[in-house]
Amino acid sequence: VLDIRKLYAQGDVFTYDPGFTSTAACESAITYIDGDVGELLHRGYPIEQLAEHSHFLEVCYLLLYGELPSAEKLAHFERTVTRHTMVHEQMHNFFRGFRRDAHPMATMVGVVGAMSAFYHDSTDINDPWQREVAAFRLIAKLPTIAAMAYKYSVGQPFVYPKNSLDYAGNFLHMCFSVPAEEYVVNPVLAKAMDRIMMLHADHEQNASTSTVRLAGSSGANPFACIAAGIACLWGPAHGGANQACLEMLREIGTVDRIPEYIRRAKDKDDSFRLMGFGHRVYKNFDPRAKVMKESADEVLELLGVHNNPTLQVAKELERIALEDEYFVSKKLYPNVDFYSGIILDAIGFPTAMFTPIFALSRTVGWISQWKEMIADPTQKIGRPRQLYTGAAKRDYLAVEKR
Ligand code: ACO
Repeated sequence: VLDIRKLYAQGDVFTYDPGFTSTAACESAITYIDGDVGELLHRGYPIEQLAEHSHFLEVCYLLLYGELPSAEKLAHFERTVTRHTMVHEQMHNFFRGFRRDAHPMATMVGVVGAMSAFYHDSTDINDPWQREVAAFRLIAKLPTIAAMAYKYSVGQPFVYPKNSLDYAGNFLHMCFSVPAEEYVVNPVLAKAMDRIMMLHADHEQNASTSTVRLAGSSGANPFACIAAGIACLWGPAHGGANQACLEMLREIGTVDRIPEYIRRAKDKDDSFRLMGFGHRVYKNFDPRAKVMKESADEVLELLGVHNNPTLQVAKELERIALEDEYFVSKKLYPNVDFYSGIILDAIGFPTAMFTPIFALSRTVGWISQWKEMIADPTQKIGRPRQLYTGAAKRDYLAVEKR
């Protein structure tokens, strides 16, 4: 039997695999995906069961420590997260250095990267205690930072965290309260928000998580690594798809215009793609999309906007695409981002906040994967090989001879 790990270690194997479609870059015990049947497990637990019975902070504990917590451990974990929700007061000044019309993701990349300057007492990756503190700081402060990025972009004062609220409710409060009127958190909307966070918490070695691992493999501090993950997530083929998807649904506008967009998505000479469709790993329904669709129905029912035109376009687009030969043959199903934007829009978020919300939700996955990597004694610096296609060796020519 070939010991593939040994062969790789000796440098005896060379594979060319752009996009890493069939190359594992690490071992991990956190998340399992079976893309053919549309299954997603966190530490062995199906995402559908977690979505129904659990909540975001419990899933955070599960991802970080491998087991569901006892009531006592959960309460302690929640208290610790709560203790870290405020950000250093000087960070307010840091925000003010950005243009107000900057995209909140641009602000977040900068502010999260700068956390290593504000919290340098938790940047020693060789100290397990500092790694633990950094993880709590990131999970607790990302919603505060995302809410501040939002408030800054709309010209409103920052709202401090309110620790009597749960994680999702507190995020809604920090985004929507104003000094003149405190936002009253609706439990149905808070539950929908919590579910969006839970469904985005981890997804094994996607582009942004792999970016976090690659950055961390050099020994970079956790704040720098998460900032790198946020930068990668921003792209429309990844986390930026939720913003792009809702903008596309609005652009389509009415169901009678759907065929035109389906035709464009199939046209090889047109770069247009149906946003919120397709996935590198899922060649079946994304299980998160199913849960998200139920949540969208609940939220729109509650808000009395059940005949929301965007939702109607989404439902009809899904129906047509699932029967279309092109999408069927290429196994292009709606992904998690297809319905999340409709919920976030109904809650009151502008499209520019969709990807920051994905980022704050994925932070626990990134930091769990980073901790797993740092604790692995076989971990090496990530250093992909290349297939060189440039010029053969040649001699330098003086400028007058060229
Ligand atoms: N609309 C139309 N055609 C598509 C779509 C789409 N959304 N997605 C893939 N295809 C087609 C491609 O044109 C390609 O066709 P070809 O074989 O004739 O060349 C084929 O399906 C395979 O597509 P690839 O881009 O090779 O697949 P890959 O696994 O590299 O990409 C990705 C996956 C990036 C998600 C892609 O499906 C896509 O761009 N989707 C739209 C953006 C999106 O929703 N991203 C969110 C991903 S989930 C997440 O990050 C949470």
